[in-house]
Amino acid sequence: MAQTRKVYFNGRYVEESEARVSIFDSALMYGDMCFEMTRTYKHKPFRLRHHLERLYAGLKIAEIDCGLTVDDMEKATYDLLEHNKDCFPEGMDIQIMHNVSRGPLPIYESVFEHGLEPTVTINTWPLITHMAGSADKYDKGIHSVIVPQQSVPARILDPKIKNRSRMFYQIANLQAERLEPGAYALLTDEDGFITEGTGNNFFIVKNGELYTPEGRNILRGVSRGAVIDIAKELGIPCHEINLETYDVNAADEAFITSTTVFAVPVTRFNFQPVGDGKVGPVVKSITDAFSEQVGVDIVAQAKQYKNDLESFTKSN
Ligand SMILES: Cc1ncc(COP(=O)(O)O)c(C=O)c1O
Repeated sequence: MAQTRKVYFNGRYVEESEARVSIFDSALMYGDMCFEMTRTYKHKPFRLRHHLERLYAGLKIAEIDCGLTVDDMEKATYDLLEHNKDCFPEGMDIQIMHNVSRGPLPIYESVFEHGLEPTVTINTWPLITHMAGSADKYDKGIHSVIVPQQSVPARILDPKIKNRSRMFYQIANLQAERLEPGAYALLTDEDGFITEGTGNNFFIVKNGELYTPEGRNILRGVSRGAVIDIAKELGIPCHEINLETYDVNAADEAFITSTTVFAVPVTRFNFQPVGDGKVGPVVKSITDAFSEQVGVDIVAQAKQYKNDLESFTKSN
């Protein structure tokens, strides 16, 4: 029998189908948990330590003691990758998900024979299912729409904590879908400044310079950080500012960033073209430079995954 993927579950490696979280877990009761999503390039996790440091910053603020140091968590992640290394086809990059909650609520303690413990899980998943759908978007771009649902401001629940209290993102996605099927939600803060998408950060390009919402009411994405670093290397000035919808209307280019897809061009905004409505040179040069750094042509990989998806799904 082919080897099956395992997940890390509270110190043990168990089958994906066996990994179960209690209905009394604080994660289910309150959406009270932190998580991370990292991806590999050529099987090497990209900026895993950045992701884990962000995770641990969130855990500290939420006062969740997961019982592992960040070094332990990093080691558990590499151990899991080693465990599962033969479960992915040659050349398949991987999504690594960390989910951490404080565990079941104390009033339900009597249900748990061995007492209460935090819930710490790490799982791996083939990136093909996430990336295949983005293949055409690198060439055509996406449509971003401002939705009525606004971001939760940092003074209420800091979005820098990557947490699972995400119903407002889901509502934003539904609103975007209603405005135009396939459109991507773009949120604003209480003052109407652009914040981020429901799973991505946002950039515009004007006169060859980058602008992105300042890091106040957003998740400070690892990919956003990578874009800022690459811009510096390429000599492209990057400004973190209060970005208004007007600025997007007047922009030459726009794009979103997130771990799985890195940077996807936005060629329409609120039903109007961004710039000339085509994918622009700046997002292309940043994507090319990043692809070179990680040793994977991201656009080619997404296209390959799109081609392979059907046969992959049949055989897995
Ligand atoms: C709300 C939000 N903003 C931004 C991002 C992008 O972050 P990263 O680049 O670390 O994936 C994510 C990723 O899940 C997100 O959920």
